[in-house]
Amino acid sequence: MAKSKVLVVGGTGYIGKRIVKASLAQGHITYVLQRREMGLDIDKIQMLLSFKKQGARLIQGSFSDHQSLVDAVKQVDVVICTMSGVHFRSHNILLQLKLVDAIKEAGNIKSSLRAEIQKTKLPINLHLLTILVQNRRRLRQFLLQTPNQTVTFLILIIVVVLSLSFPIFVVLSFLSPSSSFNGALLGPSSSFNGAPNLLRQLRFIPSEFGTDPSRMGHALEPGRVTFDEKMRVRRAIEEAKIPFTYVTANCFAGYFAGNLSQMETLLPPRDKVTIYGDGNVKVVYMDEDDVALYTIKTIDDPRTLNKTLNIRPPENILSQRELVEKWEKLIGKELQKISCSQEDFLASIKGLDFASQVGVGHFYHFFYEGCLTNFEIGEEGEEASELYPDVKYTRMDEYLKLYL
Ligand SMILES: NC(=O)c1ccc[n+]([C@@H]2O[C@H](COP(=O)([O-])OP(=O)(O)OC[C@H]3O[C@@H](n4cnc5c(N)ncnc54)[C@H](OP(=O)(O)O)[C@@H]3O)[C@@H](O)[C@H]2O)c1
Repeated sequence: MAKSKVLVVGGTGYIGKRIVKASLAQGHITYVLQRREMGLDIDKIQMLLSFKKQGARLIQGSFSDHQSLVDAVKQVDVVICTMSGVHFRSHNILLQLKLVDAIKEAGNIKSSLRAEIQKTKLPINLHLLTILVQNRRRLRQFLLQTPNQTVTFLILIIVVVLSLSFPIFVVLSFLSPSSSFNGALLGPSSSFNGAPNLLRQLRFIPSEFGTDPSRMGHALEPGRVTFDEKMRVRRAIEEAKIPFTYVTANCFAGYFAGNLSQMETLLPPRDKVTIYGDGNVKVVYMDEDDVALYTIKTIDDPRTLNKTLNIRPPENILSQRELVEKWEKLIGKELQKISCSQEDFLASIKGLDFASQVGVGHFYHFFYEGCLTNFEIGEEGEEASELYPDVKYTRMDEYLKLYL
């Protein structure tokens, strides 16, 4: 089966750039949105150009230009949004509602085949079939009256071939939704190039890549804003009946493992480490490149359609203490452990700026409450390493070697 075409929105971001690379590496035709607002941001532009060198197609657009989003979305089979969602960087999760509107309008959703065919320039075989159907009475009369049996026979053959071609075209398009078959049958310059989008539904992977927001209805203020906004986007997707995959990636290693899960630093301590409670609550640490690879693996996989992919590979389910031990082994030294009670940790929120308050709330849910691991992945989800056992995901002792 041919691979889906992918559009990455937010492709220069922290997780976005990895998703672009994974998509290219997995052989997908990969489009990246080049927002007008990037303006003079030389780093972003250079990054986009480097993607282009690697085979990506850049597509102009802006969140303040609805039509540009519609046009971008029309090119592809899958949209992956990696819109910013970390408060101390930037937070624009709700902008994705505009993307949902664009996907709706792009005609991928709810449009019946007939309605689409009526508004589309038809390929020649469908044109002829339509004409024949419209003139069926006259044709019947002509056939009854004509004395020439060869002419009658030829006309009947044409009618049969045209009649058969339509259902065959539909069936093959469904069986081979992203193949070049559609293009071949319909002609590359036909406006029916929209056929792949017409006959299959575009899949949307919104910007989540963290905690499953549907399990965070009880989350603390103000950090709950992240989960609430991601749920608003989910509701919009589901109301519009857009096929989706939600990706729950748990703790990005760069934010949570490299620093032994300490706040306010991204580097590992070498003398003392703060331990949350008893330090035995299990979390999940994930190398971001593995998150990107698993995400790309889902997009042509019917098992992940309208499901949540939880990236929770068994050897990366670790407690904070287990992570610290791995670091201690690497540096050959035991760290001094300072335990922080739940009460003290929550009290530390007072006086912090908004972004840090959000961070404290999230750390509390991960390291005290255990919200990443205190549930079974039910029928609405799939676990990534079970679906894709071929992926050799990075273990955290290997990951931490980077920091030596
Ligand atoms: N599990 C974890 O530990 C973890 C950690 C961090 C983040 N996350 C999640 O991962 C997702 C992505 O976060 P990230 O840190 O990768 O994001 P990021 O790097 O801060 O930003 C991603 C992209 O968002 C786009 N963007 C930012 N402001 C925008 C605006 N005003 N209008 C339009 N586009 C804008 C930009 O894309 P372009 O300029 O390329 O268009 C930017 O590169 C979020 O959902 C976040 O919650 C999870």
